[in-house]
Amino acid sequence: MKKYTLEDYIADIDKMGLKDTWHSILSDTLNNKFDSDTFTVENYGELYEIGLEHVNKISKKEMGKYYTPRDVAEVMSNWLKPLKGENVCDVACGSGNLILSYLDVVGKQAATELISSGKIYLFDLDEIALEICKYSIAIRYGKEYLRKIHAKHCDFLDKNIRLPRNSKVISNPPYYKIVEYGNNWKITKVISDSKELYSAFIEKIITQSDTSVIITPYSFIGSGKFYSLRKIMNKYNGFVVSFDNVPGNIFNGRKHGIFNSNKGNSVRAAITVVENRENFKGFKFSPLIRFKTEERKRMLNNKVLDNLINDRYQTVDYSKKAFYKCHKDLLNILDIWECKSTKKMNKLLNTTRGTELYLPTTCRYFTVGSKRNLSRDGKRIIHISDKSIYNYVYCMMNSTFAYWYWRLYDGGINCPLTIINSIPIFYDLFDKEQISRLNKIAEEMQTKEKDYLVYKVNAGKKQENIKFPKKYRNEINKLFFEVLDIKEDISILDKIHSSSLFSESEGDVCE
Ligand SMILES: C[S@@+](CC[C@H](N)C(=O)[O-])C[C@H]1O[C@@H](n2cnc3c(N)ncnc32)[C@H](O)[C@@H]1O
Repeated sequence: MKKYTLEDYIADIDKMGLKDTWHSILSDTLNNKFDSDTFTVENYGELYEIGLEHVNKISKKEMGKYYTPRDVAEVMSNWLKPLKGENVCDVACGSGNLILSYLDVVGKQAATELISSGKIYLFDLDEIALEICKYSIAIRYGKEYLRKIHAKHCDFLDKNIRLPRNSKVISNPPYYKIVEYGNNWKITKVISDSKELYSAFIEKIITQSDTSVIITPYSFIGSGKFYSLRKIMNKYNGFVVSFDNVPGNIFNGRKHGIFNSNKGNSVRAAITVVENRENFKGFKFSPLIRFKTEERKRMLNNKVLDNLINDRYQTVDYSKKAFYKCHKDLLNILDIWECKSTKKMNKLLNTTRGTELYLPTTCRYFTVGSKRNLSRDGKRIIHISDKSIYNYVYCMMNSTFAYWYWRLYDGGINCPLTIINSIPIFYDLFDKEQISRLNKIAEEMQTKEKDYLVYKVNAGKKQENIKFPKKYRNEINKLFFEVLDIKEDISILDKIHSSSLFSESEGDVCE
C-alpha cells in the first residue's frame, strides 16, 4: 500500500472537496485500507485545519488558535474523571481533543465500556470535524463501536438540542461575539446581557448537566456583562482556575504538532469545574496564575493547581457583583483591608479641580501614579484637591494594593477607571504621625520621578512610564500594613508582582 502524504491530501481536496476527502481517509483507516505516517488520530485536528485553510475557510492567523492543547486537555480530563454523571458529552467537540483525552485518562477498559454502552455524546456545528471526532474514537477503540457513538451535528444552542440525563460534560466552546441570535435559540438574560457565545454555552451546560469541566476566556469572572451568568453559577458549586497570558500562555502549548506554529498572544483562559457536591453553593477560585513558559509542565498538574485554589466558596449578589481571584495566603489580608476601609476611591477624586495625578492605563507587573505628565498615549488623569489625600492616592497607586486590586477583579490589558474607583480606602485610619510619614514618602518619590523614567516602543511610538525602585513600594506597603494592623511581613505581597509561579521574580516588562 502506498503511503498517503500531505501532497496526496491537498490533491484529493482539489479533486473531491474536503468532506469527501476526510470521509475516505477515515473510512479507509477504520477498515485498515490506509497507510500513512502523517495521518494519525493525533494529527487529525491539525491536518483538518490545514485542509480548511486550503479551501480558504479560515485564515492562517486563526489556525488552531483556541483548540485545547494536549496537556491542558489532560488536566481537564483528570478533573472530570471522578465527577458524577453516567453519560459523557463533549460539547463543541471539534475533531475531538477533549473526548479523546478523557477516554485516555479513564483507561482502555473504562473507555471501551463507555463507548460500547452508548454513553458518549458529541456535539458540533462542523459536520466534518464531528465525523473526524467520531471516527477517531472508533479507530482507537474498535470499529464495531462506530454506531454506538452519538454524534450530533447541530447548533448546540438550538432549543431542541438537549444534553442527555445524568451527564458529565467536557467542553471548549467557541469564543465569538454574538452578532445575530440563532433562529431557534432560547434568548436568555445571559445571552442578551453578554452577547458572547461562550457564556451561552456555559449557561446551557451547567443548567443541563450533572457536572462539567469547561475551558473559556476568563472574562466571565469579573466583567459586568457576565453578572447574570455569575448569578446562575450561585446555584451550583465547584472551582475555577484562571491563567494570565504573559509570559506563558495556555493556548500556546501545542508543541506536539508537526505543523503548528502557534505563537501569538492569546486569550486569558479559565477552567471551570462544576462539581455539584452536596451542601455547597458557589465557586472557589485560584489567583490569576502567571507562569513562565518553562514552568508550564510543572504547573499543568492537577495537584499543583488544586493547591493554588483558596477554600472560600464565592457567590455574587447586588452588593458584591464580581468574583475575585485571590492567593490562598492573602485572603486574610484582603479581608482586613476590605473590612477596615471606610470608603471607595471614587469618594476621594474630584472630576475637574485639584492637582493632577497621571495613571498609565496599561499595567503588567505594577501600577503607577505620577505627578509628572507622562509622555504616552494611554493614561488617565484624576484630580485631587487636598495635599495629604493626593499623597495618599499617589502612594496607593504606587503600592502593591492598587495593583493587587486590579489583579483580583480584572487583570486584563488595561486598568479600567471602574476598578480604580472601587479600590477600598482607609485614609481615615491614619494618625497624624503616619500622615506625615506618608507625605514624606510621596514627596520624595515625586521629586525623583524623572530619575526612574523608562521607555517602551509601542506601535512605533515611544511610551513613557516610571519604574520606581522596589524600596518605595515596600515602604508604602509597610506603612499600609501598620495602619491596617496587619502583622504579616510585607514580603508576602511579592508573589503578586511575580512573573513566575514557582519563584518570586518580578517581571521587567514595563509598559
Ligand atoms: C474552540 S473549538 C474547540 C474544539 C475542541 N473541543 C477542542 O477543544 O480542541 C470550538 C468548536 O465549536 C464548534 N462550534 C461553533 N459554534 C457552534 C455551535 N453553535 N454549536 C455547536 N458547535 C459549535 C466549532 O465547530 C469548533 O469545533
